[in-house]
Amino acid sequence: MSDLETAKAFDLNEFDKKKAGDPFAMYRLLRENDPVHQNSDGSYFLTRYDDVVQSFKHPGMSSDKKVAFKPRFGDGPLYTHHTTSLVFNDPPIHTRVRKLLAAAFTPRKLSELEPVVERVIDDLLDRLGSMGDFEIIEDYALALPTQVISDMLGVPEEQRHLLRGYSNLILGALDPVVSGEDLRRGEAAVLEFEDLLNELIARRREEPGGSQIGEVLSALIFGEVDGERLSPVELVQNCIFLLNAGHETTANLIGNSIDMLLAAPDQLQRLQDRPELIRTTIEESLRYQSPLQIGNRKATEDVAFGKTTIPAGSFIHCCIAAANRDPAQFDDPEYVDISRSPNRQIAFGMGKHICMGNTLGRIEGRIAIGKFIERFPDLRRNGESRQSPRVRFRGFDSLPVSVT
Ligand code: HEM
Repeated sequence: MSDLETAKAFDLNEFDKKKAGDPFAMYRLLRENDPVHQNSDGSYFLTRYDDVVQSFKHPGMSSDKKVAFKPRFGDGPLYTHHTTSLVFNDPPIHTRVRKLLAAAFTPRKLSELEPVVERVIDDLLDRLGSMGDFEIIEDYALALPTQVISDMLGVPEEQRHLLRGYSNLILGALDPVVSGEDLRRGEAAVLEFEDLLNELIARRREEPGGSQIGEVLSALIFGEVDGERLSPVELVQNCIFLLNAGHETTANLIGNSIDMLLAAPDQLQRLQDRPELIRTTIEESLRYQSPLQIGNRKATEDVAFGKTTIPAGSFIHCCIAAANRDPAQFDDPEYVDISRSPNRQIAFGMGKHICMGNTLGRIEGRIAIGKFIERFPDLRRNGESRQSPRVRFRGFDSLPVSVT
């Protein structure tokens, strides 16, 4: 098959199952041969940087999923959760809820969270140091965001172990193929998580000043914009969404960064010699192995992408991962350069839905990788690593290392 034929034959739904290990060669083929590709189900797949940016910024693009999720979730708790989550709403609901959620991410709240992140990482590193051989994903990358979000929501120590299971079940319900049993478990997870949060919220309402440092719950309960507060349903469902949005993405950023440095020993050495390169290292990791690889939108009007016009009503997959390796935007995009500048990577999306946690994610990434590299100069792989099979996210299920 010619490159053009291979690109034309691409089907995202098939790709999910078959090629999850190394998608970048296919993204490149698509970008060069069929950049506004149509899948067999009629949806479009965009791979050029300028097109992906346009899909995020164009006013004729919708994120609302109230119609799309109905056949899958009916009227149950998963439907309420996902359709109330900020990311699956359009203005005016999106505009109002985003302003109210911003209370959790003010510069003041972030400066309170930074020492919390430092403390969590120092504790984790002490534990890892005594282990010598360990799993980056399980023992470090996933543990950090779960602790940070628990602190933000004020989840007591004894309940924190529940959160990752909830998140996996609730997000798993968005996978392309989901069994009836998985849907029931996802619904049960939403209900249990709601109960847990409702208790915390009730306690905070009675005692608004009782927050620990880094907690944002009071700001979300009592915060007002133009005389309005989050409704009880918006409050609970978006607290759940904050965990879901910030946990696997941040864990992927940490795991992918370690893998990127191990695969490019010259760059690892540069970072060890010049720790001040940590900020640009994190930007390069976000570009090179974007944790969230593919976003999605629905066109509400005809929109032109280059020479192709996508008709109103079409579903669009916006491939952040392909855009972040587009040579029209990045010099030598397949090469890892931890001091790359400029680096206009779009791993956090763009436009009105740009990631609300982007500063927090960068803080977590910078401190987690910076301290890790400083603490463990003898870092090396310790066995086979395993990529997660999910194509929309990029990260490892297993990344064993040794530091002694
Ligand atoms: C560190 C790695 C992270 C990456 C790569 C990432 C990526 C993204 C992307 C691409 C979007 C836009 C989705 C779209 O336009 O459809 C998004 C939205 C969002 N993210 Fe993140 N995220 C990260 C961490 C976090 C964290 C730590 C939090 C909070 C605790 C968070 C909270 C959110 C929220 C609330 C939205 C929805 C914004 C909106 O719809 O207006 N993210 N994220």
